[in-house]
Amino acid sequence: MFTKQKPTTIPITEIEQSAFCRTDETLDVKPLAEEFSASVRWQGIPSEYLHMDGKELTARIRNARNLLGDRLTILGHHYQREEVIQFADVRGDSFKLAQYAASLPYAEFIVFCGVHFMAETADILSNANQKVILPNITAGCSMADMASTEDVIDCWNDLENILGQGGIVPITYMNSTADIKALCGRNNGIVCTSSNATKVMEWAFQKGERVLFLPDQHLGRNTALKLGIALEDMVVWNPFKNLGGNTEDSIKNAKIILWQGHCSVHTRFNVNQINKAREKYPDVNILVHPECTMDVVQAADYNGSTEYIIKTVTESPPGSKWGIGTEISLVSRLAKENPDKLIFCIDSVVCPCSTMYRIHPAYLLWVIEELINDNIINQVLVNDDTAEQSHIALERMLSIV
Ligand code: 13P
Ligand code: SF4
Repeated sequence: MFTKQKPTTIPITEIEQSAFCRTDETLDVKPLAEEFSASVRWQGIPSEYLHMDGKELTARIRNARNLLGDRLTILGHHYQREEVIQFADVRGDSFKLAQYAASLPYAEFIVFCGVHFMAETADILSNANQKVILPNITAGCSMADMASTEDVIDCWNDLENILGQGGIVPITYMNSTADIKALCGRNNGIVCTSSNATKVMEWAFQKGERVLFLPDQHLGRNTALKLGIALEDMVVWNPFKNLGGNTEDSIKNAKIILWQGHCSVHTRFNVNQINKAREKYPDVNILVHPECTMDVVQAADYNGSTEYIIKTVTESPPGSKWGIGTEISLVSRLAKENPDKLIFCIDSVVCPCSTMYRIHPAYLLWVIEELINDNIINQVLVNDDTAEQSHIALERMLSIV
């Protein structure tokens, strides 16, 4: 029985992506009441938090944080706003934060300033008595939303019908729901991040002759090309078409099946922007994230995960020039922290990741002030079976890289 054609639905988070794009090149925080005018879903919050300015929010977060002491650890992804990341005990990309969550010795509460799939991962990897909190529960990820559980199960059933059990190894990028990670855990598969996708894919090809890569087709394609797999050996699975838009033969002949998902932030970059940067600064180094499209990655001088981007720029000589293709909050921070270098985003429109941006400092303040009153808001809790199966897929990743 093969999947039937379904009507195409665009994830709400994808439609909302441009809501915070600006041309004035500043990202300074405004009171939450003003930011509510951007047409994205916001979580309701008590009205006392709506009108505080950046200064007041910073002072109150500092105070609440001090009162909680060692009971609280704040983790922050590098794409978070300045006014939020300043409070992170640990900053990292998704791999580093997952490693950290797995090794946190104490801390009753882990407040995760990032997006929902990262908080789920922290819940799976942390101790049973630690509580993981996402300050704004509407901070999802458009890429993760592109791989619904139902669509991925349909795809997996079709692939097993065609290829037989064990005919394909599933890899899911960290940027996916716990359900998808659990499907990988249950079926001898694994999780990867942009820091370790190459090693994980090599591991998968030692286990089987084909790979299903979810949900980012671009990271999957860029990684497979690095391993010398030809484009002709890759097919894309469109969840809205029968057999993903493929034939049984094309699936049998493929080495990689790429889920048709993408990051709404990194697919904004294009080769034209790279050409313009090179025209303006002939000695510029172009450095992009591997969630960018294949032509952008191939036109760039370097590509790698968020931690790789930070390390490469930080360790570069004074006077060097960097045109960067990744999330703007990180690029602005790199520019500020490296005043002896020229650092700019290759896209001249300032577009933060709209879901990361939903962690406004007012939400951070609200959830930690409530913790002082022993009131837990927005705990992210993965059910036991899903947690157990996704833990297997995450542990496989953590043990090989
Ligand atoms: P990394 O943190 O793995 O670089 O991924 C980037 C990203 O898009 C996170 O959502
Ligand atoms: Fe998702 Fe892209 Fe935002 Fe990361 S940057 S959270 S992949 S939409």
